Amino acid sequence: MKNTFDTEPETPGARGALSPAGAELAVAVIARVDRDHPADAVLRDALRSAKGLPRTESAMVSKAVFSHFRWRGWLDPNRTPQASLRQALGFAGTFRKKPASISDAELMEHAIPKWAKEEIAVAPDWLRSIQREPLLWIRSRAAFWNEVQRELVLLHRDRLPNAGAHAGDVDLFRCDSFQSGHFELQDIASQAVGWLCAPKPGQTWWDACCGEGGKLLHLSDLMKNGGLIWASDRSLRRLAFLKKRTARAGCFNYRAVPWQGTAALPTKTRFDGVLVDAPCSGVGTWGRNPHARWTTRPNDVHELAVVQQRLLQAAAAAVKPGGRLVYAVCTLTRKETDGVADEFERHVKGFLPEPVADPFRRPIPPVARHWFWPKDTDGNGMYVAIWRRL
Ligand SMILES: C[S@@+](CC[C@H](N)C(=O)[O-])C[C@H]1O[C@@H](n2cnc3c(N)ncnc32)[C@H](O)[C@@H]1O
Repeated sequence: MKNTFDTEPETPGARGALSPAGAELAVAVIARVDRDHPADAVLRDALRSAKGLPRTESAMVSKAVFSHFRWRGWLDPNRTPQASLRQALGFAGTFRKKPASISDAELMEHAIPKWAKEEIAVAPDWLRSIQREPLLWIRSRAAFWNEVQRELVLLHRDRLPNAGAHAGDVDLFRCDSFQSGHFELQDIASQAVGWLCAPKPGQTWWDACCGEGGKLLHLSDLMKNGGLIWASDRSLRRLAFLKKRTARAGCFNYRAVPWQGTAALPTKTRFDGVLVDAPCSGVGTWGRNPHARWTTRPNDVHELAVVQQRLLQAAAAAVKPGGRLVYAVCTLTRKETDGVADEFERHVKGFLPEPVADPFRRPIPPVARHWFWPKDTDGNGMYVAIWRRL
C-alpha cells in the first residue's frame, strides 16, 4: 500500500504528497464534522493545534478534507477512513486532469443528496462546477486597486471592477495590504450583490442582516464612505466582529444595531435602499463548503423560507417611497428564491420589480430577479431580487 497521498493544489501552496501524519489529521477532522461543526471551522481549530505543521502540509490537509466531502457520494462506505481519503483524492486528481472522465449521469447520481433534486433545478453543468476546486476571490477597495494588483497575483480581473481570483501562494491574511484594510476576501457572487444595490454617496441604506459585514464593507466603499448605512443583525457576536472589520477597512459611515428580525424595526428612518441578505440553506456555497451538502436537511429549506419571508416583509416597511428593496440569498432552492419573491409580491403591495442590468455584463436584458450559478461566475451560487417602492 502507498504510504503517501497524492494531492493536487486545492489552495495555493498545496502541492505534492500528504504525509501519513497529515492524512491522520485529515481523517480526525473529517470524523468531527457535523451539522454544528462545519468543516472549515473544525479544520481551522485542528491546524491551529497542530503547531509547527509546515504551511504546505496544512494546505494539503485542507485539500484532503474538502476533497473527501466533495467526492463523498462516490466513496465506498466499507473502506477504512484512510482508504476513503485516498479514494477521494484520486477522484479529485482525475477530475482535475480529465473532467470528462466523470459523466453527467454519475454527477446526477452522486454529487448531491437525493432530496436536493426536488428543491433545485439541477443541471449537470452546475454539478460539474461544484466538483471543481473553488477560486478564492478578493475585492479591493476602489482607491487601492492598482496597489493590490501590483502586490498580489490575481486572475480573472475582468469579471467585476476591483475584483480578482487569488493565484499566488502568499498567506492573504498576513499581507500588509490586508492588515491595512485595502482588500477583503469576498466571493465574486457576493460582490455582485453590492453592484446590484449600487448605493450612491450621500444616500441612507439599511443592511438588515449584515452579519460580519462582507457586503456592508462593499456598500460603504461604493458610497465612498459617505452617507450612512444602518447595519443590523440578531447576532451580537457577529456585530462585534463587524466592528473589527470596519475599523481595519477604515469604514466609518455605518451604525450597528441589533435587530431580531421582527416587525419592531431598529429605527424610524426611511431608507433609500434596504438590503435583506437573509439567512439561507447555503446551497450556493456547496462548491466551497462541500460538507454542507451532507449536513443540510430538506426541512432547513422549508423553515428558512418562512424566516426569509418574515425578514423581507418586515424590512420592506423601512424603504422610503422611490427607494429600493434588495433580497439576496446564497442558495438556489426554488422555495428560498422565487418562492419568497412570489410570496412577497402576493402579500405586499406598493413595490414594483426593478429590472437591473447584469453586473457581469453578460449580454442579457435587465431583470429584477438575478440567478448567479457557479458555472457562470466561477463563484458561489446566489439569487437576488430587486423592487422599487412606489
Ligand atoms: C447570509 S448571512 C449575512 C451575511 C452578510 N450580509 C455578509 O455579507 O457577510 C445572514 C445573517 O442573518 C442573520 N440572521 C439570522 N436570523 C435573523 C433574524 N431573525 N433577524 C435578524 N438577522 C438574522 C444571521 O445572524 C446572519 O448574520
